[in-house]
Amino acid sequence: MKVLFTGIQPTGLLHIGNYYGAIRNWLDLQYKYDSYISVVDLHAITIEYDPKDMRDNSFELALGLFACGLDLKKTKLFIQSEVPGHAELTWIFNTITPLGELERMTQFKDKAKQHRKNVNVGLLDYPVLQAADILIYKGEIVPVGEDQVQHVEFTREVARRFNARYGDTFPECQAELTATPRVMGIDGDSKMSKSKGNFIGILESREDIWEKLAPAPTDPARVKRSDPGTPEKCNIYSYHQLATPEPELTEYVAEGCRTAGIGCLDCKRKLLENLMKVLDPIQERYATLSTKKGEVRDILDRNADVCRKVSGQTILEVKERMGLTPIWKI
Ligand code: ADP
Ligand code: TRP
Repeated sequence: MKVLFTGIQPTGLLHIGNYYGAIRNWLDLQYKYDSYISVVDLHAITIEYDPKDMRDNSFELALGLFACGLDLKKTKLFIQSEVPGHAELTWIFNTITPLGELERMTQFKDKAKQHRKNVNVGLLDYPVLQAADILIYKGEIVPVGEDQVQHVEFTREVARRFNARYGDTFPECQAELTATPRVMGIDGDSKMSKSKGNFIGILESREDIWEKLAPAPTDPARVKRSDPGTPEKCNIYSYHQLATPEPELTEYVAEGCRTAGIGCLDCKRKLLENLMKVLDPIQERYATLSTKKGEVRDILDRNADVCRKVSGQTILEVKERMGLTPIWKI
């Protein structure tokens, strides 16, 4: 079975962009591959953060991911900083990575601009840590959003360079994109994102979601209730495409919009109904898991244990090839 690896930063609440853009894909893939999913706190500390929140944020994210449907028994969900091999392999990969390649990474350039006062070495080294995350488990399948494709290509480069210099050790991984690599924000202007505040959180109540949906922009051609609209020009319709099944999507929503058979508020009520069919079970699982935090913590501990063993093997193999260790048994 091939190994799947992916990571998500504990930087805030999960939203439906994360869910439809990434997590839902992981739910299916976890049964096809030997799956490792990591809450990447070591990546998150490369930007300003509050140390007193980090532990809770990481745990809450793990709870949220299990609530979304990651299989508690099947998927090895773990917290990155609990597995020391990631940082160790990063150092090793640093020694085969040309500086210029890191300076050219798009995300580094963006983040360096955003965080001018804190352009630390970790921010530059971020893709090397990501390569170590994937390769330490010899990951081949990396399900991510479009914005991460460059980092996955970089990881392939690292594997090639290491293999060429020290002998065949790492596989070449590939990015696996979802059908929905980009979910727009509720404002309709840009990508849904925590930092923009234009999101629908997966743990938000029906009432809070309605407060965001009701005033949200729709097709600007629908000024009056009787004006027909074009679903493809409506941001709300893009959410229906995620949450509303056929034939309701075509017959009630799209047709109703084109013929002015329904108003925008009717359309939004229908969206809320269908979205809650997806979110209610997630919120129920979240509530149940919240009463069993000890058990979830135990699972994370056990997973970190497995990860330390598997990654420890890779570290031994790497050191042996590099002439760094006494010849321990691999
Ligand atoms: P954010 O942009 O809100 O900070 P993250 O960067 O933590 O979200 O993203 C976590 C995962 O969710 C990544 O795999 C990313 O590609 C995906 N993702 C985030 N926002 C969206 C979106 N609006 N549409 C599709 N996928 C998204
Ligand atoms: N950089 C990724 C993001 O911001 C998170 C991440 C860290 C990751 N390590 C990874 C993703 C390894 C895939 C594989 O979304």
